[in-house]
Amino acid sequence: MHTRDANGSPSTVLVTGGAGFIGSHACVELLDHGYEVIVVDDYSNSCPRVLPRVERIAGRFVGAVYELDIRDRRALSAVFARHPVDAVVHFAAHKAVGESARMPVAYYDTNVGGTTALLHAMHEHGVHRLVFSSSCSVYGDAGEGPLDEAVPHRPTNPYAASKSLCERILADVCRHDPRWSVLCLRYFNPAGAHPSGLLGEDPHGTPDNLFPYVAQVAVGRRQRLRVFGGDWPTPDGTAIRDYLHVMDTVEAHRIALDHLADATGFTVFNLGRGHGSSVLDVVAAFEEASGITVPHKITGRRTGDVAELVADAGAVARAWGWRPSRDLADMCRDAWRFQQLNPHGYQGSSPQPGAKE
Ligand code: UD1
Repeated sequence: MHTRDANGSPSTVLVTGGAGFIGSHACVELLDHGYEVIVVDDYSNSCPRVLPRVERIAGRFVGAVYELDIRDRRALSAVFARHPVDAVVHFAAHKAVGESARMPVAYYDTNVGGTTALLHAMHEHGVHRLVFSSSCSVYGDAGEGPLDEAVPHRPTNPYAASKSLCERILADVCRHDPRWSVLCLRYFNPAGAHPSGLLGEDPHGTPDNLFPYVAQVAVGRRQRLRVFGGDWPTPDGTAIRDYLHVMDTVEAHRIALDHLADATGFTVFNLGRGHGSSVLDVVAAFEEASGITVPHKITGRRTGDVAELVADAGAVARAWGWRPSRDLADMCRDAWRFQQLNPHGYQGSSPQPGAKE
């Protein structure tokens, strides 16, 4: 897809979950590259104050912002009726593994029901181009070593199962209706923050994910990190993940949009660095980047976790030439900058000296 349509107007992209961690960074990336951006978000795990920051970084305005629940087909349809949407990037979903085990129905409802509501509204308005936010968690306990896209799905928790189901629905829709083109990006573990320190990961309540938890311990908001399991079959006994800088992640989404017009049917790519880091590696890297000791204690394993997930991201490199350029030290440095400048997140702090919101 091109940043301009046939009439020379900017192409319009609807970003669901555009106020969230990856969504907000994606909005900056798309605005920076000339797209018109429309955001929908219910702020269930995000904050409206992020959007003026997005605009400040990009030096451009978001076209429109709608507070709505992704399951609300009518409200979604009204957005499509109002804007000439060319493509959708769909981030809006619940994403906490532990919570998904406690609230499976809510996860299926929002993640699967939200996706079908979106597909319905898109189809109703003749929009058939979608970049879908999937997850390496679909591989579940597939085993060690880099995983390529052909590895069968073995989800170990309802969050992962909900993403796996969405993928199956999207593949089936594409199989039966040739108008659809869907690029499904399975990310491994996005982390880090925008280098400005204005955007980062600011979950509501106690963070579920490792990076924001470590950052909040380092800044003194939490006492210590619980390391979920020291008895995994890994060199240091803690679980291994493939962490990917959020800026590399959103760059891949923008490149996906560039390819969407030429793509037909359903295509899936892994997004990762192909490099595993253990929980203790992340703690050490964060301590190095921040100069602060991160107190931590090994506790029991978390339900639904697996020992190791590392990407084989060769397919996307071959297809689009996309390769991540930032490493774990960059992720820690940027996450720490965001946390220092926003010790209490978006709600509790002013962004940066001289910043306007
Ligand atoms: C999970 C999904 C991933 C998804 C992400 C979205 C799986 C296997 N992976 O990532 O696809 O994109 O959620 O949120 O389902 N940890 C601690 N202490 C903490 C928090 C985490 O030790 O307080 C450990 C976890 O056990 C894990 C690693 O840190 O080994 C990373 O955890 P997290 O950041 O929550 O991401 P995943 O569960 O890997």
